[in-house]
Amino acid sequence: MSRTSIIIDTDPGVDDAIALLMAMVSPELEILGITTVAGNVTQELAYDNARRLVQLADQNIEVYKGCETPMVIPLETAAHIHGLGGLGNYQTENLPPQSCLHAVDFIIQQCMESLETPITICTLGPLTNLAMALVKCPEIRAGIKQVITMAGAFNIAGNFSPAAEFNIYVDPHAAYVVINAGLDLTMIPLDVTNKTNVPYMWLETLSSGTGKVYAAVEQMLAFGLRKGWKPKIHDACVIACLLKPELFTLRPHLVKVDHNSGPSIGNTLLYPKTETPNLTAAMEIDQHAFFQLLSDRFKAYESPR
Ligand code: BDR
Ligand code: CA
Repeated sequence: MSRTSIIIDTDPGVDDAIALLMAMVSPELEILGITTVAGNVTQELAYDNARRLVQLADQNIEVYKGCETPMVIPLETAAHIHGLGGLGNYQTENLPPQSCLHAVDFIIQQCMESLETPITICTLGPLTNLAMALVKCPEIRAGIKQVITMAGAFNIAGNFSPAAEFNIYVDPHAAYVVINAGLDLTMIPLDVTNKTNVPYMWLETLSSGTGKVYAAVEQMLAFGLRKGWKPKIHDACVIACLLKPELFTLRPHLVKVDHNSGPSIGNTLLYPKTETPNLTAAMEIDQHAFFQLLSDRFKAYESPR
């Protein structure tokens, strides 16, 4: 089977963690590297968490530390949603060694080496690293086959301000750069990812199953569950869309992002179909098939504790 080569850019984050764990056991994917971005937590924590997750999944994937702050505005994190450390109640010591290459340079290097067979970039956090790579070396566009991003809110209110979804809110200037870079971009907004509340049955599977990954994911989700939330795994939609785009209703649309300071900063405006599109917008998800795919992939983690 020929595998799709990808870079995952992420700010783990409980839902990022589940997305990464799903990707790492998907045989169709070759993960060239994981890059971390400041978002849900600081860069330092995001970097540690990504390495923690690679270790948890017994994988040998390099993680590259990215930008410490958004391009223009100060960083706002979402530790209240994901726990102070970012992974709910999950913590570990003794992380794998660090890499000295910066995430932005890793993205540039990989794309420039892939001009003949372009690669896919999955973004699960603010778009800072990818935007910085595009600003530093616009030629990388030729090495990018597709970008799939969890970002935006089209026909509903945001989750971090009434106008904005978190990933766009944190770095609207980066979103502006990426959306206007002329890439093959698929945007999966909150309208769709809000439909990924973890079903009771999957929680039962985790608690009755065996294996250190199941136990770890239970600990990650416990943080939100104890607060009475039904966790949503927004970022897993990006991996699902890459593996099985048919689970989503995808439509070409023009989307603009508001990056002017003011109450609607970070707003993503979806224009009618009559306007020339600049991206592919996900409009709907088959929830049942999504959770089926997720639990199928997680079966790979069933092993003795
Ligand atoms: C996005 O914001 C973050 O908190 C999640 O990890 C996800 O990427 C949802 O708005
Ligand atoms: Ca995220």
